[in-house]
Amino acid sequence: MDKKIMLLFLCCIYHQHTIVSSALQVGFYGNKCRGAESIVQQEVQRWFSTDRSITAALLRMYFHDCFVRGCDASILIDSKNTQIKQSEKDAGPNQSVRGYELIDRIKSRLEATCPMTVSCADIIALATRDSVALGGGPKYSISTGRRDGLVSNPADVNLPGPSLTVQEALKFFTNKKFSLNDMVTLLGAHTVGNTHCSLFQDRLSRFDGSMDRNLFAKLSRTCAARGDPSVSLDQSTSFIVDNEFFKQTRLKKGILKIDQELASDRSTAGIVANFSVNPKAFEQAFANALIKLGNTEVVEGRLGEIRKNCRAFNPSQQKRQPLPPRKSFPPRKPKRPPPRNVSPRPTFSIPFLEP
Ligand code: HEM
Repeated sequence: MDKKIMLLFLCCIYHQHTIVSSALQVGFYGNKCRGAESIVQQEVQRWFSTDRSITAALLRMYFHDCFVRGCDASILIDSKNTQIKQSEKDAGPNQSVRGYELIDRIKSRLEATCPMTVSCADIIALATRDSVALGGGPKYSISTGRRDGLVSNPADVNLPGPSLTVQEALKFFTNKKFSLNDMVTLLGAHTVGNTHCSLFQDRLSRFDGSMDRNLFAKLSRTCAARGDPSVSLDQSTSFIVDNEFFKQTRLKKGILKIDQELASDRSTAGIVANFSVNPKAFEQAFANALIKLGNTEVVEGRLGEIRKNCRAFNPSQQKRQPLPPRKSFPPRKPKRPPPRNVSPRPTFSIPFLEP
């Protein structure tokens, strides 16, 4: 066999092996970092005691991390720490993602206890789990053993927008192997947190009957204020993880277009109706859906790394970051002549393409 083909074959076997043999497991850090999960829990509890909105922040961070390159903490990388000076944080849908400081706090305690052992991706999954429980939602176990990714690029961020139809939104979920039922369940996360007015302003331009009339009047007043104010996604219990979101949408009190459509679309109305009268069914389904979300395209085994600082790749990995797309760096003349010991080049576009 040709040497190259042989090498490719061996690589495939090795790659498969690392994925199959190192599946995530509950209690992964048991021997490696005793107390890791309680450190996460303590810090989430401490934060929650002064800021209950952390549940919403983490749920959204978890979703935005897992739906872009998998649950690999790529959302945590700061722009200044990539070669292209841009990261997922710069993408439009991520501008209002919050909660990074809590992840930093947890990471620094874990680094002090067991250095380079607990991944940032697992910290997001565990902290979200703990914040959901504190917010009155289900308590569940979640597998760990995820590793941190080596790429964070805003061009990879492709998340559903708030004005999509149910069928359009569903495409994003089926692409990630989630069912219609999973999508409705996960959107139940809008039982907590806020949205900026600009993200549903189109629903306020004229009264079309899809929103409760009093709510329409109230939101029209609130959103008329300057500076793009925020309103609660769940108008009833906006800090509690419960099935109230589904009850509200059935009363035409969903805020985002997609949320409201879940209650009226023929394919999802039945699921919403069931969750609205059956809190236990939602609780169970929500726990399962969050566990499933945490298994999305995870990095395992020997792939990726365990970051020391969740906001930056480890120094040894820096070189492996993708270089900027050529089009964002049009060839231009150097402002200054190149240093004497480097042979002159016609433009600066060539060095950017080198590995
Ligand atoms: C079709 C899918 C989804 C769409 C279109 C969507 C859209 C949005 C939008 C527009 C906001 C307001 C952002 C802002 O004001 O800047 C938001 C907030 C939020 N989303 Fe979603 N979302 C979706 C799915 C999910 C999922 C699956 C989760 C979690 C499992 C989630 C959790 C949250 C939370 C908790 C907030 C409030 C965040 C906060 O208060 O900081 N969303 N979402």
